[in-house]
Amino acid sequence: MRRIERLAGFTATPGKGSTRTTYTPEFRQALDFLSRECRALGLDPVVDGIGNLRCRLPGRDNAAPGVMTGSHIDTVIHGGDYDGVVGSVAALEVLAVLQENRFVPAVPVEIVIFAEEEGVTFDLSLAGSKALVGRMTLADMKVRTSNTDGRSLYQTARDFGLDPDGLPQSVLRPAEVSAMIELHIEQSIALEHDLLQIGVIEKIAGSFNYVVEVFGTANHAGATPMRLRRDALVGAALMIQEIEALARAEGRDEAVATVGRLAVAPNAANVIPNHVSFTFDLRDTDPDRMAERLAETLAALDRIAQVRRLDVTARRTGTNAPIALSGILADLVEDCAKARGYSYKRMHSGALHDTAVLAELAPSCMIFVPSRDGRSHAPEEFTDPEEIRRGVQLVVDTIVKLTG
Ligand code: GLV
Ligand code: MN
Ligand code: MN
Repeated sequence: MRRIERLAGFTATPGKGSTRTTYTPEFRQALDFLSRECRALGLDPVVDGIGNLRCRLPGRDNAAPGVMTGSHIDTVIHGGDYDGVVGSVAALEVLAVLQENRFVPAVPVEIVIFAEEEGVTFDLSLAGSKALVGRMTLADMKVRTSNTDGRSLYQTARDFGLDPDGLPQSVLRPAEVSAMIELHIEQSIALEHDLLQIGVIEKIAGSFNYVVEVFGTANHAGATPMRLRRDALVGAALMIQEIEALARAEGRDEAVATVGRLAVAPNAANVIPNHVSFTFDLRDTDPDRMAERLAETLAALDRIAQVRRLDVTARRTGTNAPIALSGILADLVEDCAKARGYSYKRMHSGALHDTAVLAELAPSCMIFVPSRDGRSHAPEEFTDPEEIRRGVQLVVDTIVKLTG
């Protein structure tokens, strides 16, 4: 809890939630704090070329593939104090508990704390984990630009003091990792609603992320008759409604869509807008329906643009396939939960997680603890310390079973 409180203090919006986007001074404070915490355990943290922090507790056989655990420390704008943070400090706590108990694992146990999970600045979720496994290359980092100042991810990382050119040397190979375990807050209401303490995750929903641009004609708000207008904002509003309607029409909780960012130009009260850009984020656990709904969505954008005599472009900024996690590890977590007398259920994750990327390399699992009122990505995010303790205990138990 001390570490969670310290991290919550590293925010660009004190009193208005945690805002700690990658490569900001707050992100630097968090990274330095966690590095000091690792050193206080007598361990040797390393920050890679994109800003992931890694730190190994040696085992009996250090050439054997290790077990990894961790989460992320970047946040959304005005986010909560727990998303990513819980799993990150849990990783430190797990290593501390293993050391206190003089437990020497059969294989190394490694903390991994990811950068740029949220994709706030570079419109790419899970960038840190993708770089860790080599799915985000140096070339990708050079072309991926910041949506705030236009600098490349590569340059921004360098300016932050990292060595992205060294990234290829630290890419994680499948032979180096035998399991990944991430503890996370649920970010929804299922556990609280069912009065359950633990979620054992079977699947992580996939996502498509797009930036849409709508082009019309700027003109005088008073002098232009309605029949002569090409209003980009009205077109965008119709598109946004349709994106929502298509997701609702699926009639399944796993099928969702969100327009979360909108920019209007010239953004003046008495000028007809000539340019709107907005993001959409479409998610599902069913890969076929996800692809079909994307096609329906893009067709709807074209149709609305045509009817409204507007131009529209849609650029994909990210794709994450729905991922099934390891059933064997989920069984193991479930056994540990039973042994502790914790109530639990199997469930899917609607939110993305770095573990979805790691799951392509090694058996991976996630453990959820309840979120009060299901609130997340908001300052109201809260998980009771006792709930967090149970989650950390399960990470310890699972790692002991895997490495004992
Ligand atoms: C990250 O939290 C995401 O699911 O977008
Ligand atoms: Mn998040
Ligand atoms: Mn998260």
